[in-house]
Amino acid sequence: MNNQIIRWGIIGTGRIARAFAEGLRYTNNGKLCATASRNLEKARVFAQEWNIPYAFGTYEEIAQSDEVDAVYIATPHSAHAENAILCMRNQKAVLCEKPFAVNAKEVETMIRVSKEENVLLMEGMWSRFPPLMNELRDWLKEGKLGEIRTLHADFGFLPKIKDPDGRLFNLELAGGSLLDLGIYPVSLASMVLGKPTDLQTLANMGNTGVDEQAAWIFRYSNGALAVLLSSLECETRQEAFIAGSIGNVRIHKQCWKPQKMTFTETNSEKSETIEMPFEGNGFNYEAESFASLLLEGKKESPIMPLDESLQIMQQMDEIRKEWPLTYPMDSK
Ligand SMILES: NC(=O)c1ccc[n+]([C@@H]2O[C@H](COP(=O)([O-])OP(=O)(O)OC[C@H]3O[C@@H](n4cnc5c(N)ncnc54)[C@H](OP(=O)(O)O)[C@@H]3O)[C@@H](O)[C@H]2O)c1
Repeated sequence: MNNQIIRWGIIGTGRIARAFAEGLRYTNNGKLCATASRNLEKARVFAQEWNIPYAFGTYEEIAQSDEVDAVYIATPHSAHAENAILCMRNQKAVLCEKPFAVNAKEVETMIRVSKEENVLLMEGMWSRFPPLMNELRDWLKEGKLGEIRTLHADFGFLPKIKDPDGRLFNLELAGGSLLDLGIYPVSLASMVLGKPTDLQTLANMGNTGVDEQAAWIFRYSNGALAVLLSSLECETRQEAFIAGSIGNVRIHKQCWKPQKMTFTETNSEKSETIEMPFEGNGFNYEAESFASLLLEGKKESPIMPLDESLQIMQQMDEIRKEWPLTYPMDSK
């Protein structure tokens, strides 16, 4: 690694790997140097598409490569822990897509390995990194909304094709709406309200055995409530609404890709809308933040801390336990 530029590698050549490669074009502290697929030909095609010098036909090779400082993991949830550990054991910094893993046990192991190897590890919760979210965190810190009492957030969309083998519906790949989409409302609630004390939840289980729609309510020690929803059955509002004693904030559609929010004072017509459109496709913000941490020798992100990623995964475990839904990885 030279002083200014991180050499990135990507594991997986699917949809989000492409989005991340595109995002990297808008960063000034990283360049894409390698890609790995389970199939060398796929890696070569991806490398050609994105003008990447190194293409590997196994994930082991990219983990062991001297041409890479940091690896972005863009595989299905079921593979995150294994891929992240492989890279960290080879002294690579790891940015791992959301959800961080399938369950809290896997996340605990990932965190333990990051400490043993003394490498930077972060969950790729990209929604936390756009400029609008910095503004929101400032508002929360300065008490602009007063004491937060309720939070609503949802993320639902209707896939064009319902492929039982694809990662959204396949139990073996840890499919389902909660892990794929519900993670966004859970993560937002965690950022705003912290750790809940109570939970109530309902889900529709589909014929592949995963949740196709779910809703849950978290209650916090001060009585605040978060009402959250994920769906693979319909497109929902995809908005978030945070209400406090002084005012409320609406994060407009798509709240998981936050670029616009409106603050309204309680019992008042006074409102203020802020728009902060992405420069790039949005993935550049998390990539740039991660690369800065790595260049500074940090092992963890203050915006997406490891303890919080673990707590979030524990909350997802608790929600699933209520339905109940277990994945093959839960018994490992
Ligand atoms: N941040 C976001 O906005 C966002 C959006 C969508 C998805 N994601 C996350 O990104 C991850 C990947 O999602 P995606 O939509 O990119 O998935 P995808 O298009 O299916 O691609 C996943 C890639 O993982 C690799 N892979 C490794 N083991 C696999 C297996 N057993 N089955 C299928 N593919 C396997 C494949 O690459 P090779 O064959 O080349 O090895 C495949 O191309 C998920 O964890 C998802 O939650 C994040």
